[in-house]
Amino acid sequence: MKISLLTVVIALAYRAFGTNDWTKACLGGSCSFDIEASPASMSGTIQISGSSSSISDITPAAGWQILDCSGSTNNQTVRLVCTDESLGCGHIFQNGAQDTIVRLPQGCGVGPFVRVANHSISDDQSIPTKVTSRVMKRDGTTPQVHALQIDDDFSQASGQHGNVSFEVHAQGDFRVANGPKQSKRQNGSGSTFEVVFIQPESVTPFDLNLTCPAADGTTQTQFMFGSVSLDRAQFNTTIDITSTGTMSPPNIETLSFSAPSDALIILQSNFEAGLQGSTDIGFDLGSETFPSFSIAGVLEISPVFSVSGSASVNAQLLTNFIPETAFDISITDLQFTYPSNEPPASVNIPAPGLSFDVLALPTAGSFAEFNIGALFEFVVGVSAFSQSVGLEFSYSFSSNMILDSTPTSEDDEQVCIEINDVSQLNLGNSNAFFDAFSSGNTETIFSGAGSLFSNCTTLALGPAPDVTHATRSTLQSRDGVSCPPVAALPETSISITS
Ligand SMILES: *[C@@H]1O[C@H](CO)[C@@H](O)[C@H](O)[C@H]1NC(C)=O
Ligand SMILES: *[C@@H]1O[C@H](CO)[C@@H](O)[C@H](O)[C@H]1NC(C)=O
Ligand SMILES: *[C@@H]1O[C@H](CO)[C@@H](O)[C@H](O)[C@H]1NC(C)=O
Ligand SMILES: *[C@@H]1O[C@H](CO)[C@@H](O)[C@H](O)[C@H]1NC(C)=O
Ligand SMILES: *[C@@H]1O[C@H](CO)[C@@H](O)[C@H](O)[C@H]1NC(C)=O
Ligand SMILES: *[C@@H]1O[C@H](CO)[C@@H](O)[C@H](O)[C@H]1NC(C)=O
Ligand SMILES: *[C@@H]1O[C@H](CO)[C@@H](O)[C@H](O)[C@H]1NC(C)=O
Repeated sequence: MKISLLTVVIALAYRAFGTNDWTKACLGGSCSFDIEASPASMSGTIQISGSSSSISDITPAAGWQILDCSGSTNNQTVRLVCTDESLGCGHIFQNGAQDTIVRLPQGCGVGPFVRVANHSISDDQSIPTKVTSRVMKRDGTTPQVHALQIDDDFSQASGQHGNVSFEVHAQGDFRVANGPKQSKRQNGSGSTFEVVFIQPESVTPFDLNLTCPAADGTTQTQFMFGSVSLDRAQFNTTIDITSTGTMSPPNIETLSFSAPSDALIILQSNFEAGLQGSTDIGFDLGSETFPSFSIAGVLEISPVFSVSGSASVNAQLLTNFIPETAFDISITDLQFTYPSNEPPASVNIPAPGLSFDVLALPTAGSFAEFNIGALFEFVVGVSAFSQSVGLEFSYSFSSNMILDSTPTSEDDEQVCIEINDVSQLNLGNSNAFFDAFSSGNTETIFSGAGSLFSNCTTLALGPAPDVTHATRSTLQSRDGVSCPPVAALPETSISITS
């Protein structure tokens, strides 16, 4: 039983995205319009319904022939003539043509539905000859040419035909892969994916150096360095947006967002602390826009995937702490329906894989902490009538790498090194939006924190260096960092590789 029901649901879902039926006029108080997936557009459908006089049709299926119409705007005055009254030309005049919502034929307007702002008999009664032969009556006369002023400013409607409600459903299969920036359409088994490529980005948020005093009156160039790269960013999703509301009067009653996803991220960082001080920097790691979905005057959907990062350091005294790390993050089987949370959201995010190489030669009592953060955001911008909202899910990852030295006696120190991570997956909407959202909201559907590595070692300190008066006076400071004071270094360095 279950299987056959599922089959029916799938069959209906496919039918919903079928092609438009231009042979049947929309004269019964409802109409639908389908958009097929293309490199520029998500697939989807809009269905409108209202009283029988509220929705009409000016396509040939209803007997109308449009004589001149621009395909680049919905806001225009079109001339049209009835070629076959038996098909229902007169329907548009029921309860007055004004404020009727009409379906436009292909190539006329940016479609699919417009409001009749005004109707009149056109001052220009000319009819092209190829149309004349089809519309000529037996007595040799031709029918009147009508003029319809149309637009998609549904808020101007008087409401004389009653409310017109709609339901929009849009869907897109998207993939982000690594590679040179380009966009490409890929056919999978039975479905097509829109693939965008994010260039592996490498960013150096800080690269500072100072000439610092060293032992015995010499100097040495010391660095505060940080680089972060997104070695891999794979993201596969199928987004689904459903919205219900009224075109007349304009309102969005519900907006539902689901985007089952899988992602694979490899984030790499290289740091070095030879100076003391702190710095904190945010940067972009890439963004890509996916195909959008548009029902002019009603709803526009524009999905964007972006990655941003941050890096910070806080160091006291000389640590010579040089951690190189690579985090391997996977997000599998993310499932959610926002805002209903029905069925409840679920996701599988294991602790990130970590490979690293740490070097350190810290002076007693020194401390350094590096932090890298990355924010992966998938924001689906929805604009309807006069308002906009962002539906989003975001995954944030951050890791801190800490070195902490505690003097244990005159001659040695205990050095602890830790690598920790924190991550969170949020769903939300940016702001209030008609009746669908009364305010912005964020829900956390996953949060994790853990220790990825921790080690304490006791190191013997070497002899205290000579600190001359001259070297003390050359201590420099710039861009939030300064030379650490000269002090005894440990006899052996720490070197740990995983
Ligand atoms: C539509 O066109 C009319 C007449 O050209 C103009 O007055 C009006 O401002 C236009 N409306 C929009 C929304 O562009
Ligand atoms: C509708 O068109 C008629 C005839 O052109 C005109 O007199 C009238 O002012 C128009 N009404 C509106 C609301 O634009
Ligand atoms: C028409 O829409 C308005 C605004 O959304 C609503 O208040 C009203 O109840 C609706 N009328 C009907 C008959 O559904
Ligand atoms: C991919 O799909 C498009 C349209 O859906 C079709 O024209 C094309 O031939 C397909 N390509 C392959 C390799 O199957
Ligand atoms: C030190 O930094 C300056 C810029 O502040 C740069 O021009 C120089 O190449 C750097 N020196 C080294 C050795 O990296
Ligand atoms: C995304 O889809 C492609 C093609 O099916 C697959 O090779 C890849 O492993 C998927 N990526 C993830 C993170 O699931
Ligand atoms: C810490 O790391 C050092 C150097 O790799 C190693 O010898 C030591 O066993 C580690 N200590 C612990 C508690 O893991």
